[in-house]
Amino acid sequence: MDWVWAAIRWVHLLAAITWIGGQIFLVLVVLPVLRGALPSPQRTLLVTQLGRRFAVVGWLALALLIVTGFLNGERRGVAWESLPVAQSTYGQVLFAKLCLVAVVIALTFLHGQVLGPRMARLAAQAAGNDPQAEAYRRRLARLSAIVSVTNLLLNLAIVYLAARLVL
Ligand code: HEM
Repeated sequence: MDWVWAAIRWVHLLAAITWIGGQIFLVLVVLPVLRGALPSPQRTLLVTQLGRRFAVVGWLALALLIVTGFLNGERRGVAWESLPVAQSTYGQVLFAKLCLVAVVIALTFLHGQVLGPRMARLAAQAAGNDPQAEAYRRRLARLSAIVSVTNLLLNLAIVYLAARLVL
C-alpha cells in the first residue's frame, strides 16, 4: 500500500506546485512584462484570457488538493469533526491550514468570478473612451491586484503550515 500513499502525496505536491507556481509566474513574470508592453485596456483583455485559461488549471489543482489532502489526513488518522478543538499540534496546524485554504478559495472566487469578468466587460466596452468607466476599471484593477497578491501570500503561508505538518 505504500506506493498508493506515495502516489497520493505526489499528486498533492504536484497540485500545490501547479497552483502556486502558476500564480508566482503570473505575478512576478507575466504581469510585469505586459505592464511595459501594452496599454491598459488591451492588457486587461489579454490578462483576462490568461486568467480564464489558468482558472481551469487552478480549480482542477485546488480540487485535487482537497481530495488528496483529505486522504493524507485519513492516513494520519485525523478526526475531522473535532479538528477545531484539536489538542495536538498536528491537528491545530492542520486546522489553521484549512482555514487559510477556505479564505484562498473565497478570494479565488471573488477574483475569477466577480472582479475579473467585470474588468473585462469594462475594458471591452469603454476601451478608454469613457473616462468614468476607465477610472472605475482602474480601481477594479488595483483591487484585483491586491486580492491576487493577498491570495499568493496566503498560499505561501499554507505551504509553511504544510511544512510544519510533515516535520
Ligand atoms: C491551497 C491548498 C493546499 C496546498 C498549497 C497544500 C500544500 C501542501 C504541501 C506542500 C504539503 C506537504 C506534502 C508532503 O510533504 O507530503 C501538504 C501536506 C498536507 N496537506 Fe495540504 N495543501 C493544500 C490543501 C490541503 C487540504 C484542503 C487538506 C485537507 C483536506 C490538506 C491536507 C494535508 C495534510 C493532512 C498534509 C500532511 C500529510 C502528512 O502528514 O503526511 N491540504 N499540503
